[in-house]
Amino acid sequence: MKLSFLHLDPEARTAYFRLLGYVRPHWKAFAASVLGMLLYALSQPAFTALIRPLLNGSFAHVKVPYLDWIPLVIVCIFLIRGLAGFGATYGMAWVGRRVIERLRTEMFARLVHWPASQYDRLSGGFLVSTMTYNIEQIAEGITYALTILIRDSLTVMGLVGWMVYLAPGLCLFLLIVAPLVLVLVRALSRRFRRVNTQIQQSMSEVTRLSEEAVATQAVIKTYNGADWIRKRFEPANRRNRDWNLKLGLNLAASGPLIQFVAGVGIALVVYAALLSTWFHVASVGTFISFLSALLLLLAPLKHLTNVNAPIQRGVAAVIPVFEILDSEPECLDQGLPLHQSRGEIEFDRVSFRYDENLPPVLEDLSFRVHPGEVVALVGRSGSGKTTISELLVRLYDTDSGTIRLDGRPLQDWRLADLRRQMTLVSQDGLLFNATIAENMVYGCEEPVGRAALEVAATEACLIDEIRKMPQGFDTSVGERGLLLSGGQRQRVMIARALLRKSPILILDEATSALDTVAERHVQQAIALTMSRKTTLIIAHRLSTVEQADRILVLENGRIVEEGTHAELLAKAGAYAHLQRSLAETRAAGPVP
Ligand SMILES: Nc1ncnc2c1ncn2[C@@H]1O[C@H](COP(=O)(O)OP(=O)(O)OP(=O)(O)O)[C@@H](O)[C@H]1O
Ligand SMILES: [Mg+2]
Repeated sequence: MKLSFLHLDPEARTAYFRLLGYVRPHWKAFAASVLGMLLYALSQPAFTALIRPLLNGSFAHVKVPYLDWIPLVIVCIFLIRGLAGFGATYGMAWVGRRVIERLRTEMFARLVHWPASQYDRLSGGFLVSTMTYNIEQIAEGITYALTILIRDSLTVMGLVGWMVYLAPGLCLFLLIVAPLVLVLVRALSRRFRRVNTQIQQSMSEVTRLSEEAVATQAVIKTYNGADWIRKRFEPANRRNRDWNLKLGLNLAASGPLIQFVAGVGIALVVYAALLSTWFHVASVGTFISFLSALLLLLAPLKHLTNVNAPIQRGVAAVIPVFEILDSEPECLDQGLPLHQSRGEIEFDRVSFRYDENLPPVLEDLSFRVHPGEVVALVGRSGSGKTTISELLVRLYDTDSGTIRLDGRPLQDWRLADLRRQMTLVSQDGLLFNATIAENMVYGCEEPVGRAALEVAATEACLIDEIRKMPQGFDTSVGERGLLLSGGQRQRVMIARALLRKSPILILDEATSALDTVAERHVQQAIALTMSRKTTLIIAHRLSTVEQADRILVLENGRIVEEGTHAELLAKAGAYAHLQRSLAETRAAGPVP
């Protein structure tokens, strides 16, 4: 009876049962809640049973031994019903919110270990709305909907049981009405779920666009671009409205439809009762009790049909959550342990593309960096420099060819250990919404004292500015660090890199936003650390790379030249050309 009210296709059923698996650890609270529902459900037929003797004859003539107690019994029934209802609802909420908390925790844990390629494929809006909107709908699906589903189907069962006991013949009508109701509910369920999937998708689009608008507010203002983004937002919002209205339509229609069918059933019963000789035989009390049970059926029946919507919504919401939970995370723990790398890096005929449908970014790329060496990577924008640094820290894996660290393929090393060997100061580095100090010590495994913080901040040419800030090191940098200037952000990241004791340092345009004075100062500090580390410097400003032991010139994903600054200038090849064009641009001033 219970599940026949739900129509779930196999995928949805698997998801729903899997969700119920999360309930298992809280089975005691769940059982208590179901017990409450059972008592609640029993109170209804109990009430109808109570009226039966009352109506068998007039009040005055009834001779029932417990008649005097009936008012008290009624009070008791309502008391039990109230307490049971409270226990059932709160118990289910208790279980539901715990399930939700665990789902969110698991999902968040999965997100932070998701491979970078997954993030490339999915929009942030989808992830955020799954994490917030979808999960709330699952909560509703568990707490509210499950309560109704169990409580009201138990009520229906109790009432029907009582009716069968009273007059099995009259219950035949159920055989006519029940299949009709079932067919209706099944048809509606399928619609509910389809509509809900659409609502969730449109919701993730709304989230995505809102987030984008917030993140790009300054750009929107300076380019007078509000209309453009509003024009993108409006259709998404409209789509959300339309699908929600479709849901509302189905919801509004489903109750009356099913009630009507049930009403026809009731009419049939009354008709049958009036026609049949049974009516004359049975007592008035029996008939009235039967009829009140029948009428009492209507309310739970209505709840059960309405509950379909939140359940289908919950199921539609849980499917992407499980998809995220089932996705393959990065495995941090497998592989050879690596305590301290020598810092020997080798790219051996590496080819890579971000996606099968995209052109290759690196092709047959080979180079080697010896322990302690400082190697610079130069090349035009888009030539694949950042990609090389991403491959080194294994944000992505190569398609073919091998990258080796200390003579072994990167994949052989434990990923967590591998990443501990490398400090990447990335080009578009963003800070966490935390204090400067917290951002600086991020990723340091040992505790860092104030003195060390000050040294790092001094080396990163940041100390004067920090001292001027109201809370010094404890000043919050705001969301993504946007309360700081671009150059300040970069210097916080450099300070972080200086604090981290890893044998390999990768600087991807790490000083691009600094003025020449600050850059020179920071470079001295970096040079000091570099003397102990293998360093890869990526830079457009050639002054930054002049001091490198070796310079690799990258063009279309291949190394086209290699040598020291002087050697490459003498060669008058790609590097010299790059130098010259940059010098000319600088001399000519900003491009109009
Ligand atoms: N996540 C990504 N998904 C798909 N393509 C990408 C991705 N990141 C970069 N690319 C593409 O890969 C190519 C190389 O990008 P990369 O960031 O490595 O260049 P770069 O040499 O660092 O450039 P710049 O000097 O401008 O920083 C570019 O054509 C870019 O469009
Ligand atoms: Mg780059």
